[in-house]
Amino acid sequence: MNKAILSVVLGAALLATGCSNLKSDTESTRDLNDPSVSGRTLAEQVCAICHGVDGNSTNPVFPRLAGQQPAYLTEQLKAFRSHDRSDVLGYKYMWGIARNLTNKQIDELAAYYKGQTPIPGAAKNAGLVAQGDAIFHHGVEATSVPACASCHGPQGHGHDGFPRLASQHQDYILKQLSVFKHTNDRYAGMGAMMSPVAYNLSGDQARAVAAYLSVQR
Ligand code: HEC
Ligand code: HEC
Repeated sequence: MNKAILSVVLGAALLATGCSNLKSDTESTRDLNDPSVSGRTLAEQVCAICHGVDGNSTNPVFPRLAGQQPAYLTEQLKAFRSHDRSDVLGYKYMWGIARNLTNKQIDELAAYYKGQTPIPGAAKNAGLVAQGDAIFHHGVEATSVPACASCHGPQGHGHDGFPRLASQHQDYILKQLSVFKHTNDRYAGMGAMMSPVAYNLSGDQARAVAAYLSVQR
């Protein structure tokens, strides 16, 4: 982890624990607490450290935000802010970041990422991708898994509160499917829709559909 990331994480952790008297004085954490800073500036100076300046992060721990549906992105930032989304990496990294964001900044951040062009990953295993394609468009009849496309759109681009999944990191998708399957950490709001879907998806099926989605444009 480089120094810049470390200082933001540290700043976020301090904010999350309410130790405002220990606030780090880095540029990034000052920006996060200033309601007059625009969403674009936050995206370029703070979020970029983990999510990439154009929303195409390289490390799969950090989800890609480029092209994400604004209504979904807005909902997630508010869920981190209210602590409704509480999976471990979510609260470690995002609670402190979202804590003092205003609704106006959140709307501006959503507009910023909608305007960025998603860059899909490169296919590593064509067989797995083909298997994932079938699950995405037709579901798995034997275990009552519905077609992902019925909610996430035929190309995985999402709409409204249904997230874009195309071009997302394979490992990030897998991790979220596991969160929906094994925890209630994302059960609030529309998250409840995903629990039964993830519950009936086997590990192999999850890997296939994640491999497929990560290489879609
Ligand atoms: C220090 C690293 C870091 C910084 C800086 C950061 N994030 Fe995150 N963000 C994460 C991690 C890690 C996750 C994934 C959490 C999880 O696994 O649930 C995440 C998740 C998200 C999500 C949920 C995406 C999805 O597909 O559900 C959104 C939206 C988001 N971040 C927006 C932002 C914005 C906007 C900023 C800047 C104001 C920002 N992040 C700054 C690390 C960071
Ligand atoms: C009934 C509608 C529905 C179906 C069917 C569905 N999803 Fe979802 N999915 C959602 C909703 C709504 C969300 C956003 C949940 C939230 O707000 O936390 C979501 C979120 C996700 C996320 C988290 C994305 C992120 O950026 O964190 C993944 C991954 C996902 N779905 C994968 C799938 C896969 C794979 C399938 C098919 C096997 C599928 N979904 C089928 C409604 C659905």
